[in-house]
Amino acid sequence: MITLDLTNLFKIDISHSISKQDIVDQKVHLIQYLELIHTRQQGFYTVIDDTQMVKDIEQYATSVRGVFDHIVVLGIGGSSLGAICLRDALGHLFDADKKDRKYPRLHVMDNIDPSLILELEEVIEYSRTLFVVISKSGTTPEILSQFMYFKSKIEKHRLAVTEHMVFVTDPEEGFLHDIARAEGVRTFPVPPDVGGRFSVLTAVGLLPAALIGINIRKLLKGAQAMRDSFLSHSHTKNLPFQLATVQYLLEQKGKTMHVMMPYANKLFRVADWYRQLLAESIGKAVDRNGNTVHTGITPVNALGATDQHSQSQLYAEGPHDKLIMFLTVDTLAKKVPIPTMYKQDARTAFLHKVSFNELIAVEQRATADAYTEAERPNITIRLKQIDEETLGALFMLFEGATAFLGEYYGVNAFDQPGVERAKVLTKQYLLD
Ligand code: PA5
Repeated sequence: MITLDLTNLFKIDISHSISKQDIVDQKVHLIQYLELIHTRQQGFYTVIDDTQMVKDIEQYATSVRGVFDHIVVLGIGGSSLGAICLRDALGHLFDADKKDRKYPRLHVMDNIDPSLILELEEVIEYSRTLFVVISKSGTTPEILSQFMYFKSKIEKHRLAVTEHMVFVTDPEEGFLHDIARAEGVRTFPVPPDVGGRFSVLTAVGLLPAALIGINIRKLLKGAQAMRDSFLSHSHTKNLPFQLATVQYLLEQKGKTMHVMMPYANKLFRVADWYRQLLAESIGKAVDRNGNTVHTGITPVNALGATDQHSQSQLYAEGPHDKLIMFLTVDTLAKKVPIPTMYKQDARTAFLHKVSFNELIAVEQRATADAYTEAERPNITIRLKQIDEETLGALFMLFEGATAFLGEYYGVNAFDQPGVERAKVLTKQYLLD
């Protein structure tokens, strides 16, 4: 389903890369890190076995099928990026213009820009809209403000909030939890042991996904398969450990920026989701022993082939501070041939009898080889196709790798004190 191709690393001068042996040398940490991860009591790799969660989500999604034309997610950060990623990867690229739709459209309100709110209202009809309010803490200002706005609009339209809103929040506490209890709003839990950015495979990602017809069982099946790899004690079988090892070793060699570059439009938002996961998990001021460390890897997003004509110049010739992580897909879509035209003109010869599928694959290979020649470390994460199972596995690959990175750096990958501080200050300034 997913393979990790590290071969280009070994073609690059060791001053800019790492050797096979460097990676193998790290295998001594695997079992110890896995044990440490178990002691962290994080549920991101166990929640995927929650069959009751799946049944509840499916039942609800079925019960509202045909009732709504628009699903609007109110969420931010870990509460929104997974849904965006699932919609874009598994949905239609021109969703907004699609006519023969079987499922509602999914809009994700992951900002408080007022134009986002006003322009959303130009395309939805309240009577045909379901708002999914997602906040683990149930106290985040961006989400609460939107919740209040749209709740009041639902009421103004004389519609029942209990029919047009559903919550995904902490099962025990928080403002949203209390409102749900007092006003009878249907609520799905975010398990307390699953952090926001690790929650895509809980109701946070699965409920919006199920509402637009994505097969959530298959997503979890893919995640379970990758979880086997994540828990494996063999360093050759453990892909998340291999990925984390490569990232850590290269960061230690000054490759402090990790560029995720999918060669697939549908996977562009995976890079967005991953950007949060890596940045918030590893960017930490102190380690687990309280020492000031200021660790972090700067995630960067790029899209192939588009950004070959934008950022590639920098990646090939700029500072030697990057690892490029290509995401490729063996079967992107059915074959789309490029018509052979202007046969007599040698300037188009390279396109004769070529398909778009081959063109994008060759461009990726050429870019990877060019970076390798320029001594720029790059790896390729290769997917067979883009489907639910593969996406589930991809989420688990990155979540597992991030957990291992936390252990490599000795930091808590599961908190976000820097994010919390801005939330506190926002509230304080608004009250002043
Ligand atoms: O990963 C995280 O924990 C954060 O990015 C949160 O997801 C984000 O701040 C939203 O928080 P909440 O879901 O509690 O409203």
